[in-house]
Amino acid sequence: MKIAIFNGSPRKENTSAMVQAFIEGAESAGHEVKEYRVGNMKIAGCLGCEYCHTKGNGICVQKDDFEKILPAYQEADMIVFASPIYYFTMTAQIEAAIQRVYSIGKPAKATKAALLLSSGSPGTHDASIAQFKAYTAYTKIENVGVITASGAENKSEAKLNEIKTFAKNL
Ligand SMILES: Cc1cc2nc3c(=O)[nH]c(=O)nc-3n(C[C@H](O)[C@H](O)[C@H](O)COP(=O)(O)O)c2cc1C
Repeated sequence: MKIAIFNGSPRKENTSAMVQAFIEGAESAGHEVKEYRVGNMKIAGCLGCEYCHTKGNGICVQKDDFEKILPAYQEADMIVFASPIYYFTMTAQIEAAIQRVYSIGKPAKATKAALLLSSGSPGTHDASIAQFKAYTAYTKIENVGVITASGAENKSEAKLNEIKTFAKNL
């Protein structure tokens, strides 16, 4: 599969470690994987102007880094969202990117999706998991798994091995 990972972290730390483990596992099974560091991109929030659904014919009126990730989102067989938890949701950067896909609706090809979340404390992922389940139900994409890491689990060998195994067996 062609797998696109959208990483909402602006740092190369805990979420990146989860993403790297995923890439290692998935590539070892022959998948083609690419990470998009959405956390460091400039993607503005949706204006709700409906240009995309009228004159724009699927094209967003705002010209920013969203244009860099949209082709990958459309071409992927599998989509992975990865993010730290910032005040009980994924980061503003990745939320802006997810909301901007309103311009195209459902992705063209993806049949599978997964979610990787990193946080300081346990019990802080519920809102993001609920959002992801609603997203997969709406897009009719199979939710193949959600992996969370909290506190000392971040960068732990056990958690990274769990992610590698998960990605290897997709
Ligand atoms: C702005 C901000 C908000 C955060 N909010 C939460 C939170 O609500 N719950 C939590 O458990 N951790 C929270 N954290 C901690 C991060 O989720 C945690 O350190 C995570 O591992 C960071 O991932 P990263 O290394 O990829 O940036 C927050 C961190 C920051 C910077």
